Amino acid sequence: MQIVVLGSAAGGGFPQWNCRCPNCLRARSGDVAAKPRTQCSLAISADGVSWFVLNASPDLRQQILAAPFLQPRRERRDSPIAGVVLSNADIDHVAGLLTLREDHAFVLHASGRVLRVLEANPIFDVLDRDRVIRRPLPLDRPVPLTAPDGPAGLDITLFGVPGKVARYLEDPAQPGFGTQAGDTVGMQITHQGRSLFYVPGCADIDEALAARLKGAELLFFDGTLWHDSEMVEAGLGRKTGSRMGHVCIDGDAGSLRRLAALDVGRKVYIHVNNTNPILIEDSRERQIVGQAGWEVAYDGMQVTL
Ligand code: MLT
Ligand code: MN
Ligand code: ZN
Repeated sequence: MQIVVLGSAAGGGFPQWNCRCPNCLRARSGDVAAKPRTQCSLAISADGVSWFVLNASPDLRQQILAAPFLQPRRERRDSPIAGVVLSNADIDHVAGLLTLREDHAFVLHASGRVLRVLEANPIFDVLDRDRVIRRPLPLDRPVPLTAPDGPAGLDITLFGVPGKVARYLEDPAQPGFGTQAGDTVGMQITHQGRSLFYVPGCADIDEALAARLKGAELLFFDGTLWHDSEMVEAGLGRKTGSRMGHVCIDGDAGSLRRLAALDVGRKVYIHVNNTNPILIEDSRERQIVGQAGWEVAYDGMQVTL
């Protein structure tokens, strides 16, 4: 299986258009230790010909321009993108669907809940239902990923992770803001017995998730924030990571500690917010994650499993 990081930043990207935090200033200045990053997405393929995009970011057009393997090869109208899989209905993971509206046939995979959210929003009707097949995936059970012409040689298991409903659907009157099963999922994608785990949004590492990730060969995990109150302390927002549905990296409950004992082969932080010090290659925090065996995803990063 070939895996390419199309985008490694959280919503807003790096630098974020309206942000003058120290990290964004360094990225904007062209500092080589602060590489710009587009919003979170992976491309995967079993054969290098037909590709699946895991989360369709608002930067998808730019990401395709930077990835020759996702560009037209055969017909006058053509794309190697056979399908899209969504981990939630957040704007940074679904807005790129609108980029794919030019009559291209593909299969859109997501939990039933996420597909219902899209269903309820008429802007997504721009994806012609005769050409874009919406395929609800079960939770906790492997099924083949499908291209419009059939199975693509990859199996996918979606599994629920702690999280919340998309921000634009939060209902303050409801417990958990109205979050339902399937609002936030992780993915395990398997090819010839080898698996990739992709969990770009996760509010907590509970026993079920720890058991699932134990011994995984390759994990891309939520690296949104270093510290739970990092955005509040920087004066950039009122929300903590836990309020936003993201477990932080540092601290007793943080992912660095909680995932340390799980014997994961290759651990990569992705969906990294522009305030997170691990984005800066010469920072103390980057050194800490590196020493703990973590990599920080960057746009264009390639892994073959
Ligand atoms: C998140 O990851 O928390 C969301 O992308 C935030 C948002 O919708 O702006
Ligand atoms: Mn996000
Ligand atoms: Zn910033």
